[in-house]
Amino acid sequence: MNGLAAKKFAVVHCGQLVTLAGPPRPRRGLAEMREQAIIEDGALLIADGKIERVGATEGLRTVLAQEKKLPVFDAQGCVVTPGFVDAHTHMVFAGSRATEFEQRIEGQTYRQIAAAGGGIANTVLATRHATAEDLLQQAGRHAEWSLRSGTTTVEVKSGYGLSLDVELKILGVIRSLAERTPLRLVPTLLAAHTVPAEFQEDRAGYVSLVVREILPRVRRDKLARFCDVFCDEHAFTLVESREILFAAKNIGLGLRMHVEQFAADGGAALAAELGAATADHLEFTDSEGIAALAHASVQPVLVPASVFCLGRDRYPNARAMLDAGLAVVLATDFNPGSSPTTSMPFVMSLACQQMKMLPAEALVASTINAAYSLGLGNMVGSLEAGKAADFLIHEFHDYRELAYFAAVPNLPQVFIAGKHVQTCSQSTAILANGAY
Ligand code: NIG
Ligand code: FE
Repeated sequence: MNGLAAKKFAVVHCGQLVTLAGPPRPRRGLAEMREQAIIEDGALLIADGKIERVGATEGLRTVLAQEKKLPVFDAQGCVVTPGFVDAHTHMVFAGSRATEFEQRIEGQTYRQIAAAGGGIANTVLATRHATAEDLLQQAGRHAEWSLRSGTTTVEVKSGYGLSLDVELKILGVIRSLAERTPLRLVPTLLAAHTVPAEFQEDRAGYVSLVVREILPRVRRDKLARFCDVFCDEHAFTLVESREILFAAKNIGLGLRMHVEQFAADGGAALAAELGAATADHLEFTDSEGIAALAHASVQPVLVPASVFCLGRDRYPNARAMLDAGLAVVLATDFNPGSSPTTSMPFVMSLACQQMKMLPAEALVASTINAAYSLGLGNMVGSLEAGKAADFLIHEFHDYRELAYFAAVPNLPQVFIAGKHVQTCSQSTAILANGAY
């Protein structure tokens, strides 16, 4: 019997069924950020890829008695959570930057390497030379890594092309990847990642290329749901960012922004002014920036792995953001330079250790809040009747262990739309009908 490919099945004896059930909007304020809505010895009834019922195992007994042929999956007391939603990645790129990794270890900074023509420009060169097939193959490997550690929805940015053709090539790869991976993908245009070498003397020319050529093509071919800009010292200025994002908003794209990773320069305030869905990074954002985000209900996407992997020690002030009532999101920022990790559990560990978030807050930020930041909060991110059956069976018995056991290979069993997409060596087993 393979209950896991069944149209209808039940999962019983979830030691902690962490539903994250709550209001149909992002969680904000300490009470909501910490509310896990856990059902002890919980159960899920799944039908046609969706959650039909959520409750206690005991409460499902009548259903199981009536539907004798219903396949039943016994979670054997393990923790069950919604799948992770990784709301910020740069998953499509060629090559790696292991050489720069060594250079940084030997003392050069990320910014110095970039100023010498390395960094993002390095990956742009490799990505321009790669064929779409090669990119798809490499991105497929990255997607597989995400999946293994429990990510079920992932936002993927372009941004290593920086020309009409190559940005379109990358967005095409994201579309092809979406057809090949069970992961739910959300594409974002990040043509304004850095000014490409050939436009160094003509920045306005590049902004104009993005606004007049790239954005219209993206709209015509429906290649992205969001537009992002790297707005920071040595990237795009506030004025340039505003122009690009304004144009993107006008053609119906949602807005995300890389802001204040290296300096508090008003990027957070600009995200608020433009009504962006998210402002990401925020390592240098001060109380004024936080207040602006709160006022405009912009969700902060914090990416502590990029601080850690760059060997820096200035993390965003997550506690101040939580206190200000921001609907905090955590993400990997997976990319070949500043954050070569796809692991949401690792990000949660960093968030707890380095930014003093509680495991409960980190889990909310990695699931339901991340889902809302992508416009998918009514579909994924929590385990509630009517939502997609995207969930994880972990090998833990206490949800806090997800963050507490740092960087251990705690590979969960992953379900997306009710399909078991991966099996790990765990002690959970499919039992015969009703034998629970
Ligand atoms: O989010 N900040 C800009 N972009 C990426 C880094 C990309 C790279 O180094 O390749 C980030 O950290
Ligand atoms: Fe990024």
